[in-house]
Amino acid sequence: MNTTLITGASSGIGAAFARKLAQRGRNVLLVARSEDKLIALCNELGRLSGIRAQYVVMDLTEPDAPARLFEETKERALEIDMLVNNAGFGSMGDFLKLELTRELEMIDLNVKSLVELTNRFLLPMRERRQGVIINVASTAGFQAVPYMATYAATKAFVLSFSEALWEENRPFGIHVLALCPGVTDTNFFEAARIGRPPMRTVQTAEEVVGAALRGLKRRKSTVISGWTNWLTVGAERFVPRSVVIKVAAKALRSHLHKGGGIQ
Ligand SMILES: NC(=O)c1ccc[n+]([C@@H]2O[C@H](COP(=O)([O-])OP(=O)(O)OC[C@H]3O[C@@H](n4cnc5c(N)ncnc54)[C@H](OP(=O)(O)O)[C@@H]3O)[C@@H](O)[C@H]2O)c1
Repeated sequence: MNTTLITGASSGIGAAFARKLAQRGRNVLLVARSEDKLIALCNELGRLSGIRAQYVVMDLTEPDAPARLFEETKERALEIDMLVNNAGFGSMGDFLKLELTRELEMIDLNVKSLVELTNRFLLPMRERRQGVIINVASTAGFQAVPYMATYAATKAFVLSFSEALWEENRPFGIHVLALCPGVTDTNFFEAARIGRPPMRTVQTAEEVVGAALRGLKRRKSTVISGWTNWLTVGAERFVPRSVVIKVAAKALRSHLHKGGGIQ
């Protein structure tokens, strides 16, 4: 059964992907840790005619999780022709004051599990010469972000990795897309235990998903969601990197001083 696998589908951008793709008639397999939310979403999507919504409860930071997830799809006889690597979280604060185990967990989720899931599900896609992989990066991936050092670095990895795979896999009929949202109205800031940074433009998860799906249609390697975000990232290319970093640091430092940091 052709199915789209979405990680981090219990809320935010992942849940919006699930709703939009199910409405378009795609079967979905939703993965996250919160079983109650996954059940509620599967029940909601199951009411749409002609699609099957299933879930797997899994903590993707566990070392063997991607391998177990791959095996689970085989046991359920699911052909994953679309993979949305969306699960991720962030943190904010002076790097030395942040909890090291959580920073390392962030790398495990945002980077390690994404690489392994991409590797495992790409092979059968290559054999079928068809497939789509959407990796959720961030506008934070285009520059270093002081006080979000690890998070921005994980997203720089996702961006670079996905763009490289976009080109490697084009000859095989597989589309790899790096999706770069800016500040989006989701549980992200609550999960990261930070206040939302003061931004003029905040998108909805639905807007981000809409931009991703338009980007897929146009076979793009990278989608920066939202015009303001796109312009900001573009403008940063004309400014010395050190200046961009200092401007970001100033904004986040002031946010931290106002109590927007670790709670
Ligand atoms: N919101 C923003 O401003 C923004 C901007 C740029 C990029 N992004 C990226 O967008 C992606 C989605 O985030 P979001 O904004 O939609 O935030 P969110 O609402 O907090 O969603 C994060 C999802 O990841 C899941 N998740 C977290 N830890 C997990 C783990 N260990 N194992 C499995 N699933 C896990 C969460 O579910 P459970 O808690 O149930 O496990 C949830 O479904 C992330 O990669 C984030 O970095 C967000």
